[in-house]
Amino acid sequence: MVNLGDIRRQYTQGRLDEKTCADDPMTQFHAWFEQYRGTDPLEPTIMTVASVDESGQPWQRVLLLKAYDEDGFVFFTNYDSHKGQHFAANGKASLHFFWMNLERQVEIQGSVEKISRAASAEYFHSRPRESQLGAWASAQSRPVADREALEGRFAEVNTRYGQGEVPLPDYWGGYRLRPQRMEFWQGGEHRLHDRVEFLRAADGWHKQRLNP
Ligand SMILES: Cc1cc2nc3c(=O)[nH]c(=O)nc-3n(C[C@H](O)[C@H](O)[C@H](O)COP(=O)(O)O)c2cc1C
Repeated sequence: MVNLGDIRRQYTQGRLDEKTCADDPMTQFHAWFEQYRGTDPLEPTIMTVASVDESGQPWQRVLLLKAYDEDGFVFFTNYDSHKGQHFAANGKASLHFFWMNLERQVEIQGSVEKISRAASAEYFHSRPRESQLGAWASAQSRPVADREALEGRFAEVNTRYGQGEVPLPDYWGGYRLRPQRMEFWQGGEHRLHDRVEFLRAADGWHKQRLNP
């Protein structure tokens, strides 16, 4: 066994107080996201997206967050992928942001829904042409014989669309996660971390501190 028990770090970067943090978790998310972005990370929008399949098995993968506002968090993918099938079956997802340099994480749980075709098309056409062709070339999450087959498919769609507009595939677009729960975690000394949980109720958001 590779024993990693003696790798230890103290978390000392900051504090999060349930009394002084925002009353709206999206305001708090925005403040923390902007602060993280200001640290010039390699890929600031990176997040882990979890879904659950029909047997109850959790799945996770990294995606890029493309937009957020009071209605939720938007990301783009292939609707026929594994995650797309899970969302179609149960409509639930969880997002996770881990910002180690600030000793912070944000957890978000909620329901997912497809965004409008118009909004998906607007984003799709803002992407580099090669990425648009890539969406046509890839039957995401299904087996492909080898790299040549994938590149052959890319060449095929490149020829098909020539210099014209690449249409939005039916199976590709955005999801919006509408949060029901959000949790902000700030590492603390002696493992006394700060955790503030927001739960959505009929009359709005309620916040409370959790034990670490
Ligand atoms: C840095 C990074 C960014 C990624 N961004 C996306 C993305 O925005 N959308 C997407 O569908 N897949 C993205 N992927 C690939 C996913 O992690 C995953 O492999 C793919 O979506 C298939 O997932 P599924 O089979 O669980 O549905 C990204 C992977 C990495 C490592």
